[in-house]
Amino acid sequence: MCGIVGYIGKRKAVEVILKGLSHLEYRGYDSAGVALMAKDKINIYKAAGKLNNLKEIISKQNEADINTHAGIGHTRWATHGMPSEINAHPHTCNCKSLVIVHNGIIENYKDLKPVLEKKGSKFKSETDTEVAAHLIAYEFEEKKDLLKAVQSAVKKLKGAYAFSVMHKTMPDRIIAARKNAPLIIGVGEGENFIASDIPAVIEYTKKAIYLSDNQVAEIKADSVKIYDENDNLIQNKVECLPFEPVALSKMGYKHYMLKEIHEQPDVVRNILTDKLKNKDAEVVLDDVKLTREQLKKINRIQIIACGTSLHAGLVGKYVIEELAKIPTDVEASSEYIYRNTIADENTLVIGISQSGETADTITAIKQAKAKNSHIAIITNRKDSAMARLADSLLPINAGIEVSVAATKSYIAQLLSLYLLAIYLAENTNKTSSKELSEIKKELLSLPSKLEIILNDTKKVQEISKKYSNSKDFIFIARGINYPSALEGALKLKEISYINATGYPAGELKHGPIAMLDNTMPVLAILNKGTVYDKILSNCEEAKARQARLIGVTNLIDEKHKNLFDDLILIPEISDMVSPALNITVLQLLAYHISEYLGKDVDQPRNLAKSVTVE
Ligand code: M6R
Repeated sequence: MCGIVGYIGKRKAVEVILKGLSHLEYRGYDSAGVALMAKDKINIYKAAGKLNNLKEIISKQNEADINTHAGIGHTRWATHGMPSEINAHPHTCNCKSLVIVHNGIIENYKDLKPVLEKKGSKFKSETDTEVAAHLIAYEFEEKKDLLKAVQSAVKKLKGAYAFSVMHKTMPDRIIAARKNAPLIIGVGEGENFIASDIPAVIEYTKKAIYLSDNQVAEIKADSVKIYDENDNLIQNKVECLPFEPVALSKMGYKHYMLKEIHEQPDVVRNILTDKLKNKDAEVVLDDVKLTREQLKKINRIQIIACGTSLHAGLVGKYVIEELAKIPTDVEASSEYIYRNTIADENTLVIGISQSGETADTITAIKQAKAKNSHIAIITNRKDSAMARLADSLLPINAGIEVSVAATKSYIAQLLSLYLLAIYLAENTNKTSSKELSEIKKELLSLPSKLEIILNDTKKVQEISKKYSNSKDFIFIARGINYPSALEGALKLKEISYINATGYPAGELKHGPIAMLDNTMPVLAILNKGTVYDKILSNCEEAKARQARLIGVTNLIDEKHKNLFDDLILIPEISDMVSPALNITVLQLLAYHISEYLGKDVDQPRNLAKSVTVE
């Protein structure tokens, strides 16, 4: 994780870097730092906590010390060593001539450290990064050139890294390197930028070079030279960046999360526009690169993902098995990696990831690829490392998601999975066109139904206030909405720090029911459908133990009256498509509870948006 920004050119580097870091805070925000190339020395400023702490320190410096035209900066998500000023980047060597910022993990740092200590290195922090700083410094003593020093040092490193490095004796350049961690070079006129992600540079340039694994770049104000792992000078394509700066504004909403929840009707509309014209039209999925023959041979599907994307995958399993009748397994990427999974050329492996940078999922996908399975990637970042592993790339086009809590990307992932399931069913003739038509009709009705929910959030706000002091929360559902219960609990946990758990409602009686008393809120999702009566019975069981019952339902039923303490009514929708509506209510509930509690909604503690370490 962690965010890196570098700048060299005519502008005031510190301003570009701090602004860039503020757009990368989603990658980590437990400490931050900058190194500025001044005359004959490098000035380093660091602070524990949010970027604002660093900004405050910098605002107190002499203009002469910070008015420089080259520098590097970092916002951290701690992996080695607690969040503190000493562990914050940039790190440096004994003589402080060299500075480095790093995203990733140097796996062999414990082997390298004693070797460097024998040479005289004095380490100050607990980080793996400081080891890289000392290693490159020794290489520099020998080679007297920063590019050569980095090229030589990276060959001795194991693990993942995206680096930016400066040396005070070579003030006209920054060296960048990458392996298994994202890094782009923003290309400007007489100025160049380095960043972990597009938002940091988009205000200044729409042109960028994506560094590939094992490449090292020498970046000056008026040139960018890239070298491959054999140190040969090579030419990388200059690409046009896909975002508009406006995507980074809150557009009047108090938080990005709320803005992103409210974008959901448009996100769904955008996805449907090209892919599903009307209820009787076939789904258009040109992104799927399997021939009809290959499609027919697919006898197993494996979905691999983490967190919210994993919950989308669980909904996908229900839909795919229901419509395309292909056995589908869903597994957390971190579990998939460490066992001998059964997959072959007739297996379709679907990786789901908002960021496309999640290390666990990338490793799992590489493992599946080695077994010759067809790899489909559902992602919001078609420029990501995961996207580059895809045989079939299915971009969700939800637009940039800034809030750490995933919302609109979840709905977009659900839509992609619904469309993929229908596409598979249409190509294998596993479900009647009449049945598929019904589901398509429901999908097409989603944007307006989402708008109905979003246009009147009074009830959700009331309930959020009422339950915001709860210590625990239980979410129950059955069938296709069980993943909604998991996702609702995850949302609440990550932004309010309330202990929340999602259960299949039928499991309550097998243990969790022991937790129930008159302080415990139990939120039940009840949709008109096959499991409606069953879940109603589970609610009765919870009520008999005095739980505070909240219902989210699309059915007006007399039985609800004496059962539920609070009820949220949503528009009518089929069970199959209901997860997309239900989750919106649960996202709003988590948002408002977090708001009432005064938590940092967009940047919850201990988290980062993009988890690029295993
Ligand atoms: O970028 P990805 O979808 O691969 O990220 C996976 C998880 O890290 C992510 O969904 C995480 O659980 C979010 N914070 C959920 O809101």
